[in-house]
Amino acid sequence: MMTQGLTSAVYIAASILFILSLGGLSHQESARRGNLFGMAGMAIAIGATLLAFTPSSYGLVLGVMAVGGAAGSTLAVRVEMTAMPQLVAILHSFVGLAAVLVGFGSLLEPGAHFTAAEKVVHDIEIFLGVLIGAVTFTGSVAAFGKLQGILHSRPLMLSGRHLINLGIGVACIWLGILFVGADSIDAGIWPLLIMTGLAFIFGLHMVLAIGGADMPVVISMLNSYSGWAAAATGFMLANDLLIVTGALVGSSGAILSYIMCRAMNRRFLAVILGGFGGEASAGSGPEIEGEAVAASTEETVQLLTSSKSVVIVPGYGMAVAHAQHPVSELVKALKDRGIETRFAIHPVAGRMPGHMNVLLAEARVPYDIVLEMDEINADFPDTDVVLVIGANDIVNPAAQEVPDSPIAGMPVLEVWKAKTTIVLKRSMATGYAGVDNPLFYRENTRMLFGDAKESISAVLAGL
Ligand code: TAP
Repeated sequence: MMTQGLTSAVYIAASILFILSLGGLSHQESARRGNLFGMAGMAIAIGATLLAFTPSSYGLVLGVMAVGGAAGSTLAVRVEMTAMPQLVAILHSFVGLAAVLVGFGSLLEPGAHFTAAEKVVHDIEIFLGVLIGAVTFTGSVAAFGKLQGILHSRPLMLSGRHLINLGIGVACIWLGILFVGADSIDAGIWPLLIMTGLAFIFGLHMVLAIGGADMPVVISMLNSYSGWAAAATGFMLANDLLIVTGALVGSSGAILSYIMCRAMNRRFLAVILGGFGGEASAGSGPEIEGEAVAASTEETVQLLTSSKSVVIVPGYGMAVAHAQHPVSELVKALKDRGIETRFAIHPVAGRMPGHMNVLLAEARVPYDIVLEMDEINADFPDTDVVLVIGANDIVNPAAQEVPDSPIAGMPVLEVWKAKTTIVLKRSMATGYAGVDNPLFYRENTRMLFGDAKESISAVLAGL
């Protein structure tokens, strides 16, 4: 129904909207607009594709879209902010599975006649598409399992795991040669099927071997893989827009992985090779000196009201407790008393990139008092009170002081340099990386035990 020229023009318009969307998502102020651009781009892309490549049954396509759309929107409305990373992981797995299915589909029913040279290129596209898709699929399912707590976050360290990976890699190259050289579908399907099985195992093994503390990098890495899987699908289907969109997601995910690695002072290769963040429970934690001192609500109120400057460090526990709204009110109350109040955001606070920024924006905390780690770390010595709300690993001095700690070298917020630090959490339990935190035992630290939302509400009432 649409000429090829018109389809290309519409695809370019959709690509531009996707680029504007990514640009918008890089700042909180413009994130909403970025999302709208993305939604518009996707609506245009789907509409143009349906008109350009007339499907055998519009009813079937629309029916399937209705089911998928209903499931997607129900999930999106219901999902808790704390469960977003799992949702993202499982959505990545769908992209991977789609690439695998499209790969097999386009082998069994090529849909076009190829010259000998074109067939080689098409076969390579299929092989790589299925390979990337299969790794993305099981890798994302494993990441979902770990984030959801179904699988243990401790890294699975099989002996000879590097050899296993190497073996799978070599086998895949050999199967690829067999596949591309096969002269019939019957001869080609076996190498493809065996490779798919091996790639499933590889994806699973790769993510299972990565420790809990490296999960931020894993999520953005799988995000990148899902983009490359989509681009590969685009090559198989000869769809330019899918190639462009996949490449955008793939490269932005790769950049995000790099930023996450830098934030945690980890080398990308070290993350991929696995292992970090799980040994803690085996006893390589810091030496704990001193005793933890509990604070009451009254003492917290008194410390806050007698201070001039307050810094709030939010962490995963704030998200779990849904404490962002009372925290926002607390900030207003402190400001009304002339107390300078700011937020310090660690790049991997929470469970996904930008987790804390989203929560604070939702609670209408002004952007200009929300500062990045690099912008505020030097200010702690001049800060009277730091409120650590449900955060743990990101304020752990062991990262700097204990060379053999699993989080050694990870940049942390140096809250212990403030006059007083009040830590709000429910118990003395460790954080996500499973490492003990000597901060809790420092002389200038007070522990305000309890659910973060309840504690903040009580402090608010006290003010
Ligand atoms: P965590 O180190 O996980 O610490 C959160 C703390 O919140 C826990 O120690 C917990 O202590 C407390 N908490 C839980 N529920 C609470 C509640 N209802 N009220 C009060 N406190 C509560 O979090 P963090 O400091 O934000 O550090 C993030 C960690 O997650 C890092 O290790 C990071 O690498 C990892 N991670 C990050 C990402 C991304 S991309 N940001 C993704 C995956 C993993 P209690 O149990 O004693 O209450």
